[in-house]
Amino acid sequence: MKTIKGIHELGKFILQKKEIAFIPTMGNLHDGHLALVRKARSLNKLVLVSIFVNEIQFNNAADYNSYPRTLKEDLIKLRKENVDIVFVPNKKQMNTINNFITFDLKKMQHGLCDKNRPGHFEGVISIIARFCNIIRPSYLIMGKKDYQQLFIVKKFLNEFCYPIKVLSVNTKREQSGLAMSSRNSLIAKKHLLIAPMLYQQLTYIKTNLKKMSSLSSIEKKVASELEKNGWKVEYVTIRSQKTLFIPTCNERKLVALVAAYLGKVRLIDNIEFCI
Ligand code: PAF
Repeated sequence: MKTIKGIHELGKFILQKKEIAFIPTMGNLHDGHLALVRKARSLNKLVLVSIFVNEIQFNNAADYNSYPRTLKEDLIKLRKENVDIVFVPNKKQMNTINNFITFDLKKMQHGLCDKNRPGHFEGVISIIARFCNIIRPSYLIMGKKDYQQLFIVKKFLNEFCYPIKVLSVNTKREQSGLAMSSRNSLIAKKHLLIAPMLYQQLTYIKTNLKKMSSLSSIEKKVASELEKNGWKVEYVTIRSQKTLFIPTCNERKLVALVAAYLGKVRLIDNIEFCI
């Protein structure tokens, strides 16, 4: 495994290599990330993982500063997974290249995380574009936990005609059902027992939707159940997998998405299902 810090060094290294399967991360790697790495490995391409805590996608400085940084442990995990290259650029380098790329997200007014984290997805797209321009991967591997992020990244790469295939990997969960996330380490001890409720409530939607009179009635019921148990809910919503908008009456492939705070920690999760 080679760890590369400079953009130009990376350029030279990947120039004559085979196709690249790329996994962008912000580090603090857990099994969810490693599942992405394994997916990349299965493609038999050069596996490149980036580790970069992207300041411009954070909504506030406190969140950015408290983001767990565990580079040493991350490198050990990636070495065990036989990753070929780990790219660890610094802020200065990333901020000075291609920083003119913007993607107008106004036509994708899904709300969801975009409503509550203004500028977040612009920051994600901006860094993904920079990475894709530097690395020129054939495959981009991303997790389904960040469902809206995955949707927007796919749309962006498609509209900008990047020759990149996006592969998505199912959310990895703890035994309790809690979706793996770098933010889980910030959950207060007293909240650990109720954290799995998020996924339990999504499963409730999946199993009970048909029995309910409307989408909004089950969304409200779940939101109030979470609130009763100490969550501060941002949204609980059922959307079309295809458009991420409120489904039309003949749409069958749906996704229930939730974002809620446990204390100061904001957690998101989702579940796909067909009706
Ligand atoms: O999902 C993440 O960790 C980040 O949003 C990503 C895709 C690495 C971009 O910084």
